[in-house]
Amino acid sequence: MKKMTVKDIDLKDKVVLMRADFNVPQDENLDITDDTRIRATLPTIKYILQKHARKLILISHLGRPEGKVIAKYSLKPVALRLKELLGEPVNFLGDCVGDEIKEAIKASKERVILLENLRFHPEEEANDFNFAKELASLADIFVNDAFGTAHRAHASTEGVTHYLKAVAGFLLEKEIEYLGNAVQNPQRPFAVILGGAKVSDKIGVIENLLPKCDMIIIGGGMCYTFLKARGVKIGKSKLDAEKLELAKGILEKAKTLRKDICLPVDHIVVDKIDAQAKTELVGQDIPDDKIAVDIGPKTIAYFEEKLKDTKTIVWNGPLGIFEIDAFSKGTEEIARFISTLKATTIIGGGDTAAAIAKFKLEDKMTHISTGGGASLEFLEGKELPGVAALANR
Ligand code: 3PG
Repeated sequence: MKKMTVKDIDLKDKVVLMRADFNVPQDENLDITDDTRIRATLPTIKYILQKHARKLILISHLGRPEGKVIAKYSLKPVALRLKELLGEPVNFLGDCVGDEIKEAIKASKERVILLENLRFHPEEEANDFNFAKELASLADIFVNDAFGTAHRAHASTEGVTHYLKAVAGFLLEKEIEYLGNAVQNPQRPFAVILGGAKVSDKIGVIENLLPKCDMIIIGGGMCYTFLKARGVKIGKSKLDAEKLELAKGILEKAKTLRKDICLPVDHIVVDKIDAQAKTELVGQDIPDDKIAVDIGPKTIAYFEEKLKDTKTIVWNGPLGIFEIDAFSKGTEEIARFISTLKATTIIGGGDTAAAIAKFKLEDKMTHISTGGGASLEFLEGKELPGVAALANR
């Protein structure tokens, strides 16, 4: 990586400000339901402590409180979980800026301190320079390990780097290396699997990766717009009518570039989207009154045939409504299949990562990104402001 990392700086006796992405899912009792993002920052936290930093101040957002203090978005549950995972006390402070916080940090007997949700202040998302300066004034060095938030130019990801030496943590470094290598130097054949509800969410990825990859396999809600563009009957399945012409253009471009775009050849359909709905298997054309919710067995076999010799796979977006068991088979079968291949398998964050976790295949993939929007923007070829702002080697 071209950026400096924690390994490139002297941490001894330094007060370190570290941006993490502790935006974790919680249930109605505010219990954390998936602590992957907290676990993923442990290597950087442990390293900073091992290198005898004087204090480590952790900062993060949680949810979208839009500049207001809203109790359910407090980071306190994260402090408790972090303490368990780290096996070291974590001092949780009820705000992230101000004189009282400065004093509390100075007086803290605990080396690890977690500050309250940055987004309780509207200045965070506004990338306000005074707020960034305030954050910077807490420490000697800034470490960004929040890959999941690297696509946001906020005070704690971009602004702060104007006032402190800014380097990457190990998680951010790992994400950029895996995603970057997959896209820039893929071992071939290189396949991209795309799914999820909306065509519009994936257009940037298709435009960036179509020239670089050998094939794009499309499932999920977005595939019906492409099928319609090929003249297939899609019944009442999801159609992004405004993107139909664009889909036609992409199919044409793929032909010119001699790239395969693989679309489903059979479908699991229902009358209405409901976990109890009776499912039916249909062929290529979908009857007028039916909605497709998953890919069928012929499509699974077709996609597996296409994928079997690939050496690099990047997957973003589930291939059906995987949250409902009866509609999750396509996503699950393809996930299981690629987990057996001798290929580098890179899974985008968000829903795709949730699907892999549901099927308990996390350990069988090469890399699962902790970034949803961030990994998508990276795959679109965009520069992530949180990464761009870090010091170059
Ligand atoms: C995420 O969950 O994708 C990140 O934490 C960023 O959150 P945001 O979309 O609210 O900025």
